[in-house]
Amino acid sequence: MKVCIVGASGKLGKYMVQHALDRGYQVVAVCRERSVGKLDAFAGRITVIPGATNDREIIKQAVAGCDGVLTVLVPWGVHQYSTGTAQAVLDHAEPGARLVFSCGWHITRDGQDTYSRKFKLLVATFGWLARLLRFADLNDQVEACRRVFASDTRWTVVRGSGLEEGESQGLPVWSRHVGDPILQSNLTRRVDFALFMVAALENDHLIREAPAIVGCRTPSALAHTDQPEAASRHPPGAGGRRQVL
Ligand SMILES: NC(=O)c1ccc[n+]([C@@H]2O[C@H](COP(=O)([O-])OP(=O)(O)OC[C@H]3O[C@@H](n4cnc5c(N)ncnc54)[C@H](OP(=O)(O)O)[C@@H]3O)[C@@H](O)[C@H]2O)c1
Repeated sequence: MKVCIVGASGKLGKYMVQHALDRGYQVVAVCRERSVGKLDAFAGRITVIPGATNDREIIKQAVAGCDGVLTVLVPWGVHQYSTGTAQAVLDHAEPGARLVFSCGWHITRDGQDTYSRKFKLLVATFGWLARLLRFADLNDQVEACRRVFASDTRWTVVRGSGLEEGESQGLPVWSRHVGDPILQSNLTRRVDFALFMVAALENDHLIREAPAIVGCRTPSALAHTDQPEAASRHPPGAGGRRQVL
């Protein structure tokens, strides 16, 4: 399989590159010119295409011939970087390619997510500060995801919980809606977020799903993964302790 990783030089991106190489995939990486050095550890094993991820020509070149595209959507900047990135991928990916995008729990697909007061306050405060200081625009990421949800491509939008570093614990578990008990711990190892993204490429159950994920060893995942009640909220094909990679 040939995959393109858009935003490969970030923390999530580098983990995805490693997982993709571990699976024997051919990797094309896109990252900003000034960040190419962050991918030095993969020199000779991947193709790097330097450029802005919202540059349509760069993306067109990078995704050519790729069976899958993994895209890190970030809200940084105030110039619709996220929306431009998503649109370029949607427009230029090969017909039928698997498209997997990353974002956070704050993105909702159907409005059925239930957020804690603390979470809402955090998002509102970050959004307000970011707009004020003009370093990020959460609405850009919202619009990027809206366009993905509306597209008829074979997409998955993976919604990450709070993140931490550390060794892999295995494939995160997921649910369709934030607020479901299985997600309550709100913590995932970043390396496992990346694992979920890469595994999604070959999991057709995740096509046109927006899984909200949480670490498989977190208390809420352990408490709910094996219970019949949890299984009903834990859609077929969901990750979990019993899923074999
Ligand atoms: N951080 C969290 O707590 C958290 C929680 C839930 C979900 N997520 C999601 O996880 C994904 C990865 O997030 P992360 O926080 O772990 O970050 P990350 O993996 O370090 O990725 C940051 C990405 O943003 C790019 N970037 C940084 N500043 C930029 C700018 N001013 N303009 C354009 N691009 C810029 C970086 O490119 P360079 O390498 O070129 O700098 C890199 O590709 C995102 O989709 C995020 O929404 C994060």
